[in-house]
Amino acid sequence: MARFCLSCGSNFPVDTIDLGSTVRIWTVANQKGGVGKTTTAVTLAGLAADAGRRVLLLDLDPHGSLTAYFRHNPDTLDASVFSLFENRKQLNDMIVGQVIMPTKFERIHVIPASVSLATLERQAIGDGMGLVISKALQMVAADFDQVIIDCPPQLGVLLVNALAACEHLIIPVQTEFLAIKGLDRILNTLAMLSRSQKKLMPHTIVPVMYDRRTQASVTSLRTIRNQYGERVWAGKIPIDTRLRDASKAGVPANQFASDSRAVLAYASLYKFLLQDMVRVA
Ligand SMILES: Nc1ncnc2c1ncn2[C@@H]1O[C@H](COP(=O)(O)OP(=O)(O)OP(=O)(O)O)[C@@H](O)[C@H]1O
Ligand SMILES: [Mg+2]
Repeated sequence: MARFCLSCGSNFPVDTIDLGSTVRIWTVANQKGGVGKTTTAVTLAGLAADAGRRVLLLDLDPHGSLTAYFRHNPDTLDASVFSLFENRKQLNDMIVGQVIMPTKFERIHVIPASVSLATLERQAIGDGMGLVISKALQMVAADFDQVIIDCPPQLGVLLVNALAACEHLIIPVQTEFLAIKGLDRILNTLAMLSRSQKKLMPHTIVPVMYDRRTQASVTSLRTIRNQYGERVWAGKIPIDTRLRDASKAGVPANQFASDSRAVLAYASLYKFLLQDMVRVA
């Protein structure tokens, strides 16, 4: 029987989309800071969980914003995603299982970040370092329907791991002039990786923090659409203080303010991403 998204009511029958049984792995990345990566990862995770999917969120940012969102402390954690890198030579499902933590939200688990992750950014990508997350996720794939990886805002071992592990890249871009440079940077990184993998990873550019009252927002959205065409999602995430409130409360926005404009927009994005996966498959 089709289930309906608790956050969005009957106009969002995501479970009527047949996704098969394989786990979906999405990465949220942009080499620019503060563009809504963590917010996007958490909100999509909340929507997936509401739709009955078992969700695993991975925090690959040494700052640990996503980890803190779920009330784990990146400064004091013993088990974190760092353990996967430390144990990369003898990785097994028990080691991976030890770093997966529950949250107080049904069907949402996290692999948290710890500050020690920052030391990885200085390391070279040789020696199997680029595929640690990919291998770890394969070991627990059967336990989850949806994995979402949140990234740091710079290119390094962690971002490379996230890109190697995922099947779809979500790129939030602020609708403001300076944001377009950051967008080029992440698209160049993607092109570089695609050359070595000999295929271009499916990706979606998501305009965020759109403020229809400002000319800057309106003009830069138009520029983004003109410049990047089909790769840009047809909708946009509006600027909405409820997202900040949700983050402060440590609750995924769809559970905190289910009827807010931003959550409705994220629900429509989520549905688009699922349909796109089916189309690509
Ligand atoms: N659509 C939005 N409207 C209003 N505020 C938003 C929106 N999206 C995100 N924010 C707020 O903007 C701030 C930055 O968002 P977020 O932490 O998600 O960005 P980030 O890209 O993950 O940042 P970083 O690069 O530092 O990890 C947060 O306070 C968040 O609550
Ligand atoms: Mg972040």
